[in-house]
Amino acid sequence: MPHPLEELRENALREISDAPDAQALEAARVKYLGRSGSISAWGEQMKTLGKEEKPIVGKLLNEVRTAVTAAIDQRAEKFQSQRETAALANIDISLPGTPSPRGSLHPLTQMLDRGIAIFRRMGFALADGPDIEDEWHCFDALNTPPDHPARNEQDTFYLPDGRLLRTHTSTVQIRTMQSAAPPIRVIAPGAAYRRDEVDATHSAQFHQIEGLYVDENVSVADLKGAIEFFMHELFGPDTAVRFRPHYFPFTEPSFEIDVKSKALKGGEQWIEVCGSGMVHPAVFEEVNKARGDKAYDPEKWTGFAFGLGMDRLAMILFGIPDIRLFAQNDLRFLKQFA
Ligand code: PHE
Repeated sequence: MPHPLEELRENALREISDAPDAQALEAARVKYLGRSGSISAWGEQMKTLGKEEKPIVGKLLNEVRTAVTAAIDQRAEKFQSQRETAALANIDISLPGTPSPRGSLHPLTQMLDRGIAIFRRMGFALADGPDIEDEWHCFDALNTPPDHPARNEQDTFYLPDGRLLRTHTSTVQIRTMQSAAPPIRVIAPGAAYRRDEVDATHSAQFHQIEGLYVDENVSVADLKGAIEFFMHELFGPDTAVRFRPHYFPFTEPSFEIDVKSKALKGGEQWIEVCGSGMVHPAVFEEVNKARGDKAYDPEKWTGFAFGLGMDRLAMILFGIPDIRLFAQNDLRFLKQFA
């Protein structure tokens, strides 16, 4: 005589394979495997069996449970794939899809990425600082006295609490030196703000890559070498680079740098793209005061700094005639750089 468990298995398997739909299958699952299903009941009953019977029935019970579970899973899978096939039956997979328009990087972002990549190859690390600054980081620490025209309310955006939108990324020079001792070699890409009259070459918000290199024996030759390498990488070897003496409070000597390249639309004439110079000893002294040490001893360390106008560079590189195009969000313009 077959064991009642074997009978139970046969009944269960038949019921499962006869189940016409998922609902019937679920009913069978509850009936056999549910908390008060018959297989579970057998588990309870095991406790009452004698020592000899227990292992034999236990083994059989396990087999039955495994077989029933597997049969249910299999049948469930079959129902699932039938459902999927039915769902797909109404879909014409040969229809063309709905295209999702592809975005692309803004030309200024592309320009910044290119610039950063070139300086990374020269060993410059990335530094950062806030767009909303205090006057000390923007002016005082950069040897820019209170009566300097750059501090004029007409030139700069001040917040009611006295903070301001940084007028240059040179603030990051100070922040970097405050937090790290020399030697340092950093670039700081980011936005700067000025209350300029807006026209084809001036915008209230523009972008710079600031550079700062402080080490022993850094000279103007290093500055020239770095900037020339940068311009040649960016615009090609036929690019002419010109250093013009200039004045910045925080560098001495100071230079404005112009480039010219026949190979570029918009680059046929000298275009000013960068302010630069050798870090003024007074800047080192001010940083030392803030740090409370002598880490930037001007007798030991020298450095160069520069601020590249990235909007200008992008205009030359891409032949863009008007800086305002960068901020107008006109897709007809932006798509040309995708
Ligand atoms: N901060 C200056 C500007 O925005 C550029 C500059 C940077 C000059 C570093 C010298 C050194 O015009």
